[in-house]
Amino acid sequence: MKTNPLIVALDTGDKEVLQALVEHLAPVVGAFKVGAYPFLLFGWDLVDYVHSRGSRVFLDLKLHDIPTTVANAIEVVARRRVFMVNLHTLGGREMMERASQVARELSPRPLLLGVTVLTSMETEDLEEVGIQGPVERRVLDLARLAQQSGLDGVVASPQEAKAIKEALGKEFVIVTPGVRPPGSPLHDQKRVATPREAVVAGAHYIVVGRPICQAPNPAAVAREILEELR
Ligand code: C5P
Repeated sequence: MKTNPLIVALDTGDKEVLQALVEHLAPVVGAFKVGAYPFLLFGWDLVDYVHSRGSRVFLDLKLHDIPTTVANAIEVVARRRVFMVNLHTLGGREMMERASQVARELSPRPLLLGVTVLTSMETEDLEEVGIQGPVERRVLDLARLAQQSGLDGVVASPQEAKAIKEALGKEFVIVTPGVRPPGSPLHDQKRVATPREAVVAGAHYIVVGRPICQAPNPAAVAREILEELR
């Protein structure tokens, strides 16, 4: 595999822990995922810190707003040389097209990833907000719309990855969370796959948080995961 597929989720609000994780893991992993929680606490300082350690950032902000607002936000993110950023596909075609247009005018530009249906939602949750299930159908339809609208890929569960790859081709980037090394505790994840299973199913990148960040030696666990993928 050419690019390093391992993205570590930085989900802590403790600045010293964050710094130690980035310090130890930057030489090993492909990127760090920075979500709303650490970003709201530490802002661009955290992104700049990861960059200063020679690593890349997946900014997991799940943007969802009118097209102009999202396009403006994407421009700010792109100018910060962020590697990946995501937006909700339910924001619609125009929102995604405007975002991808803005990104394509900049170099380097972030990869734009669509969030389809949150994995915390099941068919009944979707129907409660007026969207007809089943979830798997909606995920595939939204992933297709994301591709037509110029997005580079989607965030998807390992269970969804295979169908997305088969329907939309192997160039369309798939990033999968819900990944657990063999024997690792599941925490609150329900439908999980091992790193190898996720990649075989079609994931280009895997997101792993607690199994690495809560380990006594995070870099050793990250190396083991990459070893399993060789
Ligand atoms: O610790 P763990 O490996 O479960 O962390 C997974 C990360 O991916 C967390 O930041 C979580 O919020 C995120 N995520 C997820 N499932 C999704 C989307 C994002 O677990 N469908």
